[in-house]
Amino acid sequence: MNLILLGPPGAGKGTQAQRVVERYHIPQISTGDILRKSVKENTPLGAKAKAFMEQGQLVPDEVVIGIIDERLRAPDCHPGFILDGFPRTIAQGEALQPILAKIGKRIDHVLNIEVNEEELVGRLTGRRTCKNCGMMYHLLFHPPEREGGCDRCDGVLYQREDDREETIRIRLKEYERQTAPLIQYYRVKNMLRSVQGIGEQDQIFNRIIRLLDETPR
Ligand code: AP5
Ligand code: MG
Repeated sequence: MNLILLGPPGAGKGTQAQRVVERYHIPQISTGDILRKSVKENTPLGAKAKAFMEQGQLVPDEVVIGIIDERLRAPDCHPGFILDGFPRTIAQGEALQPILAKIGKRIDHVLNIEVNEEELVGRLTGRRTCKNCGMMYHLLFHPPEREGGCDRCDGVLYQREDDREETIRIRLKEYERQTAPLIQYYRVKNMLRSVQGIGEQDQIFNRIIRLLDETPR
């Protein structure tokens, strides 16, 4: 099963992707996570991406397209994959087709997680992530059992650099300008499946399972 998760910053793409990984045993490919790791490790890729990410801007298409081209060839993607945060522009969507054709794959579902802007800002300002295992928390909606520590691995929780309110607003504008057009792009191809992203995380995951298990591929 090959999936794309679409949705604005804070919609819950990463949260739901982690659950899809556990249930369907396919890897989550988050361009955001790959880029953050490169920034942290000071790699050449990280150096190219850092300033864009800190300002809430998208990293140039050719950079992320290169990442995806390489990542999708890895053996763990043979049974399927979840693209979380890619494509993010029409140009990236167009570039994905020949990348998939080369490896004999196609997208089965594009899941669009829908959440309104005020809810998004609240989610992002309260988000905390485990430095060690990447598990996601929220100070109010999904707090860890021990303040500042991960329930799963006891790692330290941190706040993402781009989760400051002024950067969040820029990310949301960039989403509207560059990413939201992909909704119509996939709708006309009859690939889009919309999921209401408000409610309990379990409830939203059940909506996703229903779509994945019931929609004919
Ligand atoms: P990226 O890391 O992809 O960030 P994003 O799209 O802004 O999305 P987020 O990760 O912020 O949100 P999410 O939808 O994953 O929500 P989450 O599950 O964490 O990208 C970061 C940057 O990298 C970009 O700005 C860009 O610079 C660059 N980049 C990445 N990909 C790129 C690309 N393809 N092209 C160009 N540049 C690219 O949930 C958020 C919070 O809400 C959490 O605290 C969670 O606990 C909570 N939450 C989740 N579900 C619920 C719920 N149901 N109710 C209440 N709270 C909830
Ligand atoms: Mg994410």
